Amino acid sequence: MSLFITFEGPDGGGKSTICRTLAGELQATGYQVLVLREPGGTPIGDQVRQVLMDKANTSMTPHAEFLLFSASRAQLVRQTILPALSAGQIVLCDRFFHSSFAYQGFGHGLNLADLQQVTEFATGGLHPHATLLFDIDAESGLRRRQKPGLEWNRLDDYAVEFHRRVREGYLQLASADPNHWYVLDASQSYERVLAQARQHIALLLQNQ
Ligand code: TYD
Repeated sequence: MSLFITFEGPDGGGKSTICRTLAGELQATGYQVLVLREPGGTPIGDQVRQVLMDKANTSMTPHAEFLLFSASRAQLVRQTILPALSAGQIVLCDRFFHSSFAYQGFGHGLNLADLQQVTEFATGGLHPHATLLFDIDAESGLRRRQKPGLEWNRLDDYAVEFHRRVREGYLQLASADPNHWYVLDASQSYERVLAQARQHIALLLQNQ
């Protein structure tokens, strides 16, 4: 059995912590689970990530940004995700191509059809079986990201209007494809959000 689930949402929704926690729980019950994050997840992708996150790169254009995310993704799909799925593992990915649609598409205003076309090329047409959206409004999300100890990156520096468009974009993507998206209200307590995400993944495993 193989299952590919992606975790999406605006910054500060807690998805990364929940992704790692659920992976640990599934592993403890005997599943083979691989946890990945984008951008990165491979040695080449991690180098691309440094370029993308570097706060000195203030002149990066949205087009270059999107292609770098896509390059990291192309490497991750072929080097890591496809082999893991072929081996019957569960793959949990903290962000995937829907992040590009939300951030570079809705956030920066790049044409969505162009992004979809390049994405199909980059991923070879691989789509997640299901996507969990950790929905939170832009202001609360950014406030949570400002807590001491959390990494503040180049994309966090974009204006709050950018992050509002990202959030709206995610909600639009989710409502256009309700069979593949599950929306969680990430402004609730961590325990509640975790419990809802856990329940949904259990359901997905049951329906395999
Ligand atoms: P990261 O520190 O991993 O943030 P988070 O914990 O919120 O996932 O940084 C990833 C940043 O890159 C985040 O701001 C979202 C952004 N991003 C895009 O703009 N497009 C993409 O395709 C991906 C994968 C991420």
